[in-house]
Parts: sequence; C-alpha cells; structure tokens
Amino acid sequence: MAALGITVALLMWLATLLFVTIWKHIYSSWKLPPGPFPLPIIGNILQIELKNIPKSFTRLAERYGPVFTLYFGPRRVVVVHGYKAVREVLLQHKNQFSGRGEIPAFHPHKDRGIIFNNGPTWKDTRRFSLTTLRDYGMGKVGNEQRIQKEAHFLLEELRKTQGQPFDPTFVLGGGPCNVIADILFSKHFDYSDKTCLRLMNLFNENFYLLSTSWLQLYNNLSCYVHYLPGSHRKVLKNVSEIKQYALEQVKEQHASLDPSHPRNFTDCLLIEMEKENQSAELGHTLEDAAVTVADLFFAGTETTSTTLRYGLLILMKYPEIEEKLHEEIDRVIGPSRIPAVKDRLQMPYMDAVVHEIQRFINLVPSNLPHETTQDTIFRGYVIPKGTVVIPTLDSVLFDAHEFPDPYTFKPEHFLNENGKFKYSDYFKAFSAGKRVCVGEGLARMELFLFLSAILQHFNLKSLVNPKDIDLNPTVIGFGCIPPHYKLCVIPRS
Ligand code: HEM
Repeated sequence: MAALGITVALLMWLATLLFVTIWKHIYSSWKLPPGPFPLPIIGNILQIELKNIPKSFTRLAERYGPVFTLYFGPRRVVVVHGYKAVREVLLQHKNQFSGRGEIPAFHPHKDRGIIFNNGPTWKDTRRFSLTTLRDYGMGKVGNEQRIQKEAHFLLEELRKTQGQPFDPTFVLGGGPCNVIADILFSKHFDYSDKTCLRLMNLFNENFYLLSTSWLQLYNNLSCYVHYLPGSHRKVLKNVSEIKQYALEQVKEQHASLDPSHPRNFTDCLLIEMEKENQSAELGHTLEDAAVTVADLFFAGTETTSTTLRYGLLILMKYPEIEEKLHEEIDRVIGPSRIPAVKDRLQMPYMDAVVHEIQRFINLVPSNLPHETTQDTIFRGYVIPKGTVVIPTLDSVLFDAHEFPDPYTFKPEHFLNENGKFKYSDYFKAFSAGKRVCVGEGLARMELFLFLSAILQHFNLKSLVNPKDIDLNPTVIGFGCIPPHYKLCVIPRS
C-alpha cells in the first residue's frame, strides 16, 4: 500500500515537472517582452491587484520596463507604459496594433459595430461612421447648434432644482444623451422620460460594474468565471437590453426609410447597408446596424456625462478655480448669450480647466485593449499575432515631467507663463492612432459648451466643506468612477 502511495506521489511530481517544463518552453519560444514568470493555469494573477490594475501596471513597469508581458490565466497580455512606448505603438506601428482585444462582458457586440469589432467589418464601419458623424456635425444643424439647443434644456432642468440638493448624475447625463440621440435617431427625450432614464441607468450601472474587481477577473479570465454567479451576468443582461433598444429603433426607421431623404445617422447606415447587401460583400444585417448604433449611443453618453459630473465635483473642491471661470465667462460671453465654439479661443482658462479635468480624472486609465493583427517586431521583441496589447493612457496623462505634480488638479498644466492655452501632446484621454475615439470632436465641444453654460448661469454649492471633498474614484477598472455626491446650483442673477 505504502509503495503504491509513493509511486502515485512520484508520478504526480513527474507530471507536474513535465507540465512546468513544457510551459516554460512555450513561454520562452517567442522573443516576448520581459515579465514575471507565469504559473500554470493562473498566470500572473497573484501579481496583479484586481482593485487597481493600472497601479499594478505602474509597479510592474518600474521593474520590467516600459513594455512587459503578463498572463491573466492563459491570456497573454503585453502592457505598454509611458509616452514614448505608447506613442510608438499607437502611431508608429498603428496597423500592427490596431486589432481590438476581446472584452467578454461585451460578447453580444463581439466583431460587430465599431468598439468591440476585431473582425473584417471594423474598418468600413468605422470609416463610414466617422464620415457620417462629420457630415451631421457640419450639416444644416451642426453639432454646435445641436449642443447649444440642448444646453437650454439642461439649464432649465437645473433651474427646476430651486437651489435644493440633488444628485446630478441623470441631469448632466441628459445633455450628452440627447445630443447623440438627435444625431442617431432625431430623438429628443424629456429629462424625466422613463425610457431615457432607464437607458442612462443601464449605461451608468455598466460603467460602474465594469470597473469593479469582479469584472476585471471576468474580462480577463472569463473561461474560468463565466458559469459562476456574479455581476458579470448583470452587465451582459444590460448590454443585451441596450442592444435590443437600438434594434427596435433601427427596425422602426427601416420601416419608414426613404433612401432619398435620410433623416439621421441610422437612416444613412441603413442606406449604406442596403447598398452593400446588393453587392453582398459584407452581409450586414439589421442586428449589425443595431450594434453600431448602440456603440455610439452608450459611448457618446456615459463618457461625457461622467466627465461633466466629475468636473463639477472638482470645481466644488476648488472654489477659487470656479471663481476664475465665472470671471472669464462674464468677460468674454456675458450673462445671457449662449456660449459658442468661437469663445474657446478667448477663454484659455476654461480650455485649460476642461483639459485638466480630463487629464486628472483619467476616465479610461488602461485604454481599451488592442490586439496585434500580425506577428510584430517591436523594440526587438516578437509579439505574436492575436496578443492583447494595452497601451496605457494613465502612464501618459500622469507623466511627471510633462505635468509636474501630476496627481494634483492644476489648470496651469495647460497654461503658459502668459496665461495662454498650452497644447500638450501628452493629452491622450481619447487615445490616438487607428482606434482613436470616434467621438473626440463631439465630446470636446460638449464639455466646453455645457460647462460654460452651467457656470454662466449657476454657482456651485457643495453640501460639505470643500476641503473635505474626496476626489478619489470609488472604483478603478475599465473606468475611474467618481464618488457619488449631491450638490446645489444657485442661480447667479
Ligand atoms: C469624454 C469623452 C470621451 C472619452 C474620454 C473617450 C475615450 C475613448 C477611448 C480611450 C477610446 C479607446 C481608443 C483606443 O482603443 O485606442 C474610445 C473609443 C471610442 N469612442 Fe470614445 N470617448 C469619449 C466620448 C465619445 C463619444 C461622444 C463618442 C460617440 C459619439 C465616442 C465613441 C467612441 C467609439 C465608437 C470608439 C471606438 C473606436 C474604435 O474602436 O475604432 N466616444 N473613446
């Protein structure tokens, strides 16, 4: 009996040794960037703090350098850290790194639409979307007018609070939501519309859940976690509900489509889709159109909405900055004219504050995952086709040389000695290169116009002593999510 036990133990030990040897062999068979040695099955998961993956990346970059390899279970990931390396990946080797790494929580969108598309339709869908968004942005009613019109509704909604404390999440969200809903479906929601509130709630809940530790685990180790209970199920359900809403809109518009008079982005997409179907090249379906529309709808709402919400919290902590903004607005725009894009040139302080808000809040710290489209030689390493690559954005936004004292909110990071706006190539909140944010122009315009309009008409009042406002995000993952708060807005005249 004892002999059998010893034999089994010996065999198990030999099997483990063999497994580790084969693993080591596979691991070293490519000239991959350096990194901690991965354990079988779990990879480097023990070296990563799931509550703050960006921080773990920074720590590992100090040890292994600006380009390093990690294993999340069996998933190989190359992390790129710091301005020079991130720029090289996104701009110098843009084609090789332009794939999209899989995000299992968005499985219903996989290889369709724009954001989560790593398939052959991505390039055309992206190109078409950019052109059509540009046309709508510059059309008879351009984006400037669209946002200005929406600013009136937003201000009206803020007035209704009558100086009482309120949670700004869905009031501020209503602005960007209506701007993109107008472009996509020619729709305008009332701020108390149940469908609109439901959609904003889904966007908001998903952005939060996607940034929790559990979803970091799910997105990187879905093969092990998928069948367990947990909040990934809620995220997947929400993604499907948003897609279902987009599909209903697409179907409704398809039923009343007049190809000679496109009414909005969705009409243009349907017309393009029918053209393509005639040549039977891409085989788009209404579902594909729904994914593109859903991508633009939630990306176009939640990012800008969260930035505005975080921005107001920051301004409440620094009343002296808010004061300077009021002064600039009063001087350049005055009390009643709605802010316009042309004002930006004469408002360097507001321009700098908007940039600094985006830099400081670090909305998407680790970017969206990219993927190599072919075996790629990068800085002497060989990165196999299909490897997930993370060109981190926080490593650029918090560069201590470019932005001294990077963890402090300072509009001066974007101002020169004469108080003029100072451009920085390190401002990469929208990423860069082939996958750069499709809505960058729209988002920048919204942030400037909405913030200017709010501060033109209201003083912000915190419910706690400004010094006690905590600006740290509640969770850090897919995004950096601001703390939950209430405020009062007091009319200025
Ligand atoms: C403050 C606002 C915003 C921020 C900070 C932001 C940030 C980003 C980032 C970091 C990416 C990933 C880029 C990459 O993979 O390298 C991205 C992609 C994207 N964004 Fe935005 N975004 C914002 C607003 C918007 C808006 C308003 C829209 C829609 C109108 C939009 C649509 C998209 C789309 C479609 C992609 C996917 C591009 C692709 O994969 O080819 N975003 N955004």
